[in-house]
Amino acid sequence: MAETRRPTGRDDLENQIDAQVAHRLPDIGRLVSLPHTMYTLLSLLMDESTQAKDLQSVLEQDPALAAKVISLSNSAFYGLATPVSTLDRAILIIGFKELEFMAMGLGLSETFDLSQVPRGFDGEGLWLHSLSVSWIARELAVITRACEPSEAMITGLLHELGVIILVSKFPQQFHELLELTDAGVPFLDAETSLGLRHTVIGYLLARNWNLPEIFQEGILYHHDPKKCPGRNEIAALVNLADSLAHKAGYPMKLEDPSVDLAWTMDTLKLAPPTLQNFIKILMTSLPQVQPVWLQMMRSGTRKPAGDTGSFSSLMDSAAGKHGKTAR
Ligand SMILES: [Fe+2]
Ligand SMILES: [Fe+2]
Repeated sequence: MAETRRPTGRDDLENQIDAQVAHRLPDIGRLVSLPHTMYTLLSLLMDESTQAKDLQSVLEQDPALAAKVISLSNSAFYGLATPVSTLDRAILIIGFKELEFMAMGLGLSETFDLSQVPRGFDGEGLWLHSLSVSWIARELAVITRACEPSEAMITGLLHELGVIILVSKFPQQFHELLELTDAGVPFLDAETSLGLRHTVIGYLLARNWNLPEIFQEGILYHHDPKKCPGRNEIAALVNLADSLAHKAGYPMKLEDPSVDLAWTMDTLKLAPPTLQNFIKILMTSLPQVQPVWLQMMRSGTRKPAGDTGSFSSLMDSAAGKHGKTAR
């Protein structure tokens, strides 16, 4: 992956996080590196000229990932009468767009094991949330053209990287965080008071991994996109996708993301009827794709969320373009 420019004026961010965590982050960055396949996929996804055959040749180098893609193509979602057994046929069935999404989701869930999470935390829910924000962000990018869909998809997938790190690598600190939230302290306040801001931790790791700056900024500002000093469209888009995922029943349960809808719609040049129509499509499409996501995580026990009723307040806000802060 090409060398990226470090965002300026943010070098003090390390001081905002717990000393123990800050001390260990560089080691984690070295030890928990993204698999080679993920870096290759990221590079391909950032290149507009990439075609299905390019993804196929990457997957062919990673037999485990290829096997999972073939297995997913045989899920009931695709309704095939004859089982698929080859990668090229699987890619044909799944389609290029979904293949990108699957390959990235599979790669990230392979990198971080969330099966042993601290008591009281829903690791599977965190994956489902990350996948749904990724998926919604990509679709929002398609309709708004605010950024490249692949950029939105990857930023959505990684937006809670800080939480993923805390859960999987700092269980003691995360346990303290849960104790505060259990006592009624809002998540964002609790993590700030403990020096465990997930936006900063995720950003620092993404920087350590030398991911492109657009992903770093999307992670850092996904709760406060107005503060993003560079291109703020992607942070705005992920912030909206985050809120929509919560309303669709795919929350990261600790947080309660807010979105300044009027500002977001202006920033993304998103007209109220377009957003309303988008929400309607989400209400039917998200429950349909969820079984494939559960299969991606090798689990099939979770009931579909389908809490689509809570979209209504956001739709009302979109219609009136009021909703200073929609929750
Ligand atoms: Fe977050
Ligand atoms: Fe989130």
